[in-house]
Amino acid sequence: MIREEGEYYRELLGDDKASEDDRGYNLRPSLLSEYIGQKNIVETLKIAIEAALKRKEPLEHILFNGPPGLGKTTLAHIIANEMGTRIITSSGPALEKGGDLMGLLTHLERGDIFFIDEIHRIPKVVEEFLYPAMEDFAVDFIFDKGVHARTHRYRLETFTLIGATTRAGLLSSPLRERFGIVRDLDFYGEEDLVRIVKRSAAILNIPIDDGGAYETAKRSRGTPRVANRLLKRIRDYAQVRANGRIDREVALDALSLEGIDEYGLNNLDRKLLMAIVLNYNGGPVGIEALSATLQIESDVLLEVVEPYLLKTGFVIRTSQGRKATEKAYKHLGISLKGKPEKTLF
Ligand code: ADE
Repeated sequence: MIREEGEYYRELLGDDKASEDDRGYNLRPSLLSEYIGQKNIVETLKIAIEAALKRKEPLEHILFNGPPGLGKTTLAHIIANEMGTRIITSSGPALEKGGDLMGLLTHLERGDIFFIDEIHRIPKVVEEFLYPAMEDFAVDFIFDKGVHARTHRYRLETFTLIGATTRAGLLSSPLRERFGIVRDLDFYGEEDLVRIVKRSAAILNIPIDDGGAYETAKRSRGTPRVANRLLKRIRDYAQVRANGRIDREVALDALSLEGIDEYGLNNLDRKLLMAIVLNYNGGPVGIEALSATLQIESDVLLEVVEPYLLKTGFVIRTSQGRKATEKAYKHLGISLKGKPEKTLF
């Protein structure tokens, strides 16, 4: 049961092909001028793209870091679109052997964007091929071993690598240093999410009022991908159980069916808080202990669940581990001594 929730999380927040096409509705912006939020990053990219186009040069390599669903992949596609180039995509786990990467690199054309998602998961031996590729646009083929080892340098076309990661800290410094532009994406504020929800509702052709958009935005974990997912659930609800329009009440009724509370926390978020409070006396507790208690991979907790709980102040990280805050106790309805004050579940 709990494992399933972990998978639900991966699906909810992990990169999903569905949102790329979305059965005919593309909710992803395709130009920087359509992109809502992440103002400073958008401005940096506008300047870098205009300058590169003026000089008729490929863009510098770019690294995007941040929790899933905030727009790293979308930005990579927008950049290719604005530069008028192709985008070739891969991911860290897919690049198992040096040959996998070589095959892709040697087929790149001048100016191509090469996008690697989850770049922190590239095996070390494969990563080392990336260094000369990024720096000198060359790859070194190695023949034979030991004293007979010979290398042959193969020249590549100039390309732009865009890396996306949820764990920049796991990147080796030689790799990180080879990116010219490194940017952290942060959770979106309510105002930006309201605009995103309204924009998506217009594309999906579902009427929504200010109250409906606000309640949806508020419960989206600061994450556009979540906002768009919730909007689709609410649209179904509005069309089947209401009058086909989304207002505050329709949004709240639909979202309560999804188990999402006023802070946008879902069952797994609350289970994690409960585990810290009840099993570990409020903490501090290490991520591996929580992973064992909840039967959810620690990577999912670290990359997907925890960032929003940290951002919203339900959890803090100390050198000894995670601690639940007073806000968490209050939200769960538990007194600081660990006694339930009301029943939530
Ligand atoms: N859809 C998903 N993310 C978006 C964003 N940042 N701006 C506009 N539409 C979006």
